Amino acid sequence: MVKAAVLGASGGIGQPLSLLFKASPLVDELALYDVVNTPGVAADLSHISSVAKISGYLPKDGGLERALTGCDVVVIPAGIPRKPGMTRDDLFKINASIVRDLVTGIAQFCPKAFILIISNPVNSTVPIAAEVLKNAGVFDPKRLFGVTTLDVVRAETFTQEFSGLNNPSDITIPVVGGHSGETIVPLFSKATPALQIPADRYEALVKRVQFGGDEVVQAKDGAGSATLSMAYAGFRFAESIIKAVKGQTGIVEPTFVYLPGVPGGDEIAKATGVDFFSTLVALNATGAEKAINILDGITPQEEKLLKACTEGLKGNITKGVEFISSPPK
Ligand code: NAD
Ligand code: LMR
Repeated sequence: MVKAAVLGASGGIGQPLSLLFKASPLVDELALYDVVNTPGVAADLSHISSVAKISGYLPKDGGLERALTGCDVVVIPAGIPRKPGMTRDDLFKINASIVRDLVTGIAQFCPKAFILIISNPVNSTVPIAAEVLKNAGVFDPKRLFGVTTLDVVRAETFTQEFSGLNNPSDITIPVVGGHSGETIVPLFSKATPALQIPADRYEALVKRVQFGGDEVVQAKDGAGSATLSMAYAGFRFAESIIKAVKGQTGIVEPTFVYLPGVPGGDEIAKATGVDFFSTLVALNATGAEKAINILDGITPQEEKLLKACTEGLKGNITKGVEFISSPPK
């Protein structure tokens, strides 16, 4: 039996993500939580003839506790999205406390759940979640994940003309680092099958993966950021987690984890100088079984990208940690 919860379920990501969960045969129970509209979203989805039993909760009447109790997997897309001209870091002021409070609920009501954080800025919200769980004495780094799958999905899509594959997702391209501008590092040299990218196209391709989110923010012109592609990517990652929970082996996903708490992570922390980093992670029923170091043998161009990434990431991580260790007055 798998119970999943979506926190922020009435939003632009939350609704299509909840639809994908409801349609999945892997989910037995689905709880939707938001500060608005969940009764309506849950009623609508409840007419779909799939296995998952669905319920919607608001904060009143202990809604968060009822949504989270018994959960195996909790996905958090709660929080405000960007408008044109904003960075993801500009969302920190509002989203930091939303994530802090929701993870406080998880620590209390389902401390063993796998936690998947979508809310931006991911580079800071995941460290916030880790600190909250540590303070509550329930931090298991193998169960906390920042969802960076959209960067991988974009890399697959934007390189299709070079891979020549009919289905863009048939290529595997590791994207490491964080989830924001220059902290996003696509490792095209590690693609399988191998990619031949003309030298004069490389830089633009890297920039497109790093700043793909801006394309959507600009096109939506004030109405938010990526929602549908994010729901696709978020569910792709969540489905891998659920399959691993159910005992499937051999699943590897790139995701943003706390390196010192995941086997194999220390080596990557040493190489990068950061404790939180997105890398390939082998998943099993206990969560992140092993962080895989794919940084050996990267090209000099990728080395340069990695340096810019870790410089940016350090500040983002510290900001998240300090939000909990020295809360703003
Ligand atoms: P949205 O505004 O459409 O939806 C957010 C939802 O969160 C709303 O329904 C809102 O009511 C709810 N919410 C706010 N405070 C809450 C609380 N305390 N408890 C529960 N629910 C709460 O925004 P969106 O487009 O769905 O984006 C959500 C977040 O996801 C943003 O921070 C965005 O930047 C981020 N995002 C991340 C990625 C990624 O790759 N990780 C991709 C796209 C968007
Ligand atoms: C994305 O990459 O699309 C998201 O992080 C949303 C954003 O703000 O760009």
